[in-house]
Amino acid sequence: MMIEKSKTRVNVPTGAISGEGVAASEKKLEQIAYLFRDRDALARMDPETVVYSVECHEAVAAGTPGGLFFGTSTVRPGRVGDEYFMTKGHFHARRETAEYYWGISGSGVLLLMDEDGSCRAEEVTAGSLHYIPGHVAHRLINTGEVDLVVGACWPSDAGHDYGSVETKGFPIRVVCLDGRPTLEEANK
Ligand SMILES: [Fe+2]
Repeated sequence: MMIEKSKTRVNVPTGAISGEGVAASEKKLEQIAYLFRDRDALARMDPETVVYSVECHEAVAAGTPGGLFFGTSTVRPGRVGDEYFMTKGHFHARRETAEYYWGISGSGVLLLMDEDGSCRAEEVTAGSLHYIPGHVAHRLINTGEVDLVVGACWPSDAGHDYGSVETKGFPIRVVCLDGRPTLEEANK
């Protein structure tokens, strides 16, 4: 028997994942323009701007019961008007499944919303650990000047339900007010 070398690497300081079984994707502003409130500011921006990207190690097929996925999300710094760049946000298709997030670098906010629409926000910084229980939608917002990099681990059968968040929306927006990240009612 031999001691095997790992075929996939995590660069611990940066969160970058490389090697076997790694999938990468990115979201551009034009794909998620509907998330942002300031239509005039949007019209002045390059629709090709990358807002966030995800690297994911998938050792099993999506939907496999009992497995885990491991990923790193990077939300770029930027704003549309006064509203910071953010991820789409999602519930898990299998609502009872939970997830861990941990801050790797940068600074931001994790917005959490349960199924009756009540919302709370956790500060994300390097080293912060976030347990996201089942039945809770989650969205990352970069409130800093550099990339917000966040690690994640979640069940391989969790799935993603983006539609419920699109329909309902988060009740809170994170905006820059007097130079500081501020929580604001979404329909203000
Ligand atoms: Fe998730």
